[in-house]
Amino acid sequence: MFIKSLSTLLLSAAGAFAATGQLVQVTNFGPNPTNVGMFVYRPARLANPLPLIMAIHYCSGTAQAYFQGTQYANLADTHGFMVIYPNAPDSGGCWDVHTQATLTHDAGGDSLGIVSQRSYDDERSDGRYPDVFKAGSAFSGVPFGCFAGPDMWNSQCSTGQLIMTPEQWGDLVRNAYPGFNGTRPKFQFWHGTADTTLYPQNFWEDIKQWTNVFGVSQTPTSNITNNPLPGYSRASFGPNVQAILAQGVGHTVPEQANDVLNWFGISDVTPGSGSPTTSAPSSPSTSAPSTTSAPGGAAAHWGE
Ligand SMILES: *[C@@H]1O[C@H](CO)[C@@H](O)[C@H](O)[C@H]1NC(C)=O
Ligand SMILES: *[C@@H]1O[C@H](CO)[C@@H](O)[C@H](O)[C@H]1NC(C)=O
Repeated sequence: MFIKSLSTLLLSAAGAFAATGQLVQVTNFGPNPTNVGMFVYRPARLANPLPLIMAIHYCSGTAQAYFQGTQYANLADTHGFMVIYPNAPDSGGCWDVHTQATLTHDAGGDSLGIVSQRSYDDERSDGRYPDVFKAGSAFSGVPFGCFAGPDMWNSQCSTGQLIMTPEQWGDLVRNAYPGFNGTRPKFQFWHGTADTTLYPQNFWEDIKQWTNVFGVSQTPTSNITNNPLPGYSRASFGPNVQAILAQGVGHTVPEQANDVLNWFGISDVTPGSGSPTTSAPSSPSTSAPSTTSAPGGAAAHWGE
């Protein structure tokens, strides 16, 4: 769902990767019409309740590359959460974020396989997508539904020329699961101003979409500059929408895994029982980097 360039991957991979355990493939989980692969990282010591992060690789990536190129597994050793790395069935390593199946609740597609993975191992619920995840974080993506169409790639969207009103963008999310009236996962998205793969206009369209979905103003309630890094700004629109813009950064916005954990509310979780953070019982999902369409796509779908 996201598309990050290969160079990104190499860049990330150059960081210290020190997870102590192995990535294990799981083949038996629920409905999986498109044959999404499933790889699990389960640290030796688990927190209780057990948070779960779905770490969804960028377009042109793999579960293995994302495992090695990000810090989620290392951090799982420290905090005791579990990480699932879905693997895109498409030969090009992209997610099917252009299909109505994936963009619609319970209609199939890669998103259904991913949701099935979410509940394979535990006591948790079935697959009502909006209930499935607590939070999402997307790197360098596009709004939910922006890539919709016959082809895997949508140039109108990628180049930032698909402009819609907040209401129109919000309708795409609402129509993915008509009648849903539960709590939607809060959503954070990151984008570089020099992104020439998925143009930064998509960041502004994302703001329109998610402020509309959550029914909040498009004017940030706060905008902290040089946060979390020099040249970045973190704009919040109430508690559920956060838009981080990285000045001069291209399509590869290096993933700030600790920052993502903080957004998910699991920074203070530690292995063993009685973890301090009780707000993380369920599973925050990271849709992390995504590219294509997906960030918004994946999160929107799940989030409803
Ligand atoms: C919406 O809320 C009503 C009232 O609680 C409930 O009966 C209905 O099933 C909900 N719809 C969905 C799709 O969850
Ligand atoms: C937040 O502030 C920075 C610095 O002024 C600005 O570049 C950015 O566009 C602002 N973000 C939003 C969402 O308005």
